[in-house]
Amino acid sequence: MAIFRRLDPTRMPEHVAIIMDGNGRWAGKRSMKRFVGHKQGAESVQFVVETASRINLPWLTLYAFSLENSLRRPRLEVSFLMRLLSSYLASNVERMNDNNVRIQYIGRTAELPSEVRDRMEWAAEATCRNTGTTLTLALNYGSRSELVDAVRALAREVEQGLLRPDQVTEHDIERHLYTRDMPDPDLLIRTSGEMRISNYLLWQIAYTEIFVTERLWPDFRGSHLLEAIEAFGARNRRFGGLSESEGGALAGSVLVPR
Ligand code: IPE
Ligand code: IPE
Ligand code: MG
Repeated sequence: MAIFRRLDPTRMPEHVAIIMDGNGRWAGKRSMKRFVGHKQGAESVQFVVETASRINLPWLTLYAFSLENSLRRPRLEVSFLMRLLSSYLASNVERMNDNNVRIQYIGRTAELPSEVRDRMEWAAEATCRNTGTTLTLALNYGSRSELVDAVRALAREVEQGLLRPDQVTEHDIERHLYTRDMPDPDLLIRTSGEMRISNYLLWQIAYTEIFVTERLWPDFRGSHLLEAIEAFGARNRRFGGLSESEGGALAGSVLVPR
């Protein structure tokens, strides 16, 4: 793939997060039911995961199902998405192992149906020794509820006398986020043209580069991931400082104040 050769190995993201949007519109354009779009979207997931693994991307985090989706979509659609997740895991764990991909989850996953949780645990266990890309699926995920969970945990520490309120730092908040063991995303991709964040990783994307494409998720392939990464390579990240040509330190080495 030509674009593969164009990627600058010194300007690769470490963590790419994606808001996979547009399944319903993809189906609607073809006069098909939304379910068909979701099914096709699951195919895109596997293409993108395998491309991420080929380019040795350490972290790929996919917004698969939001807390708001579970509250605001018809029950039939929610249960279809749950079944689709289960069957995605059942059919792809072997390929994840072939590609050295480890899978994990963020979100209020304890609220998901128990058969789905069992399948999720099985997939995580089956891939936990892989050392390539870590695929994180955000499931029943909402960033504000993640922050609420972190604040509750910190309040408990204060109550137990482990921490004084005026000692709380950004690091203390981070160690209670679901993403505590992960670096912040360098690049956030949203498909289907919507210019919004939809309650995704609000804390973590403070200095993330954003790439919005009109392409609908079921049409998204590995080559489109590479295009976004190429565009990321051309960005001038400043982290509140100056660019390299203006005498600033190398963007990657600038310390974001904690
Ligand atoms: C994204 O596609 C998948 C989920 C949110 C589960 P949508 O279902 O949001 O598709 P559109 O936005 O209606 O086209
Ligand atoms: C964001 O897409 C959530 C996921 C991709 C899982 P939505 O389709 O739910 O977002 P809104 O409703 O357009 O903001
Ligand atoms: Mg949508």
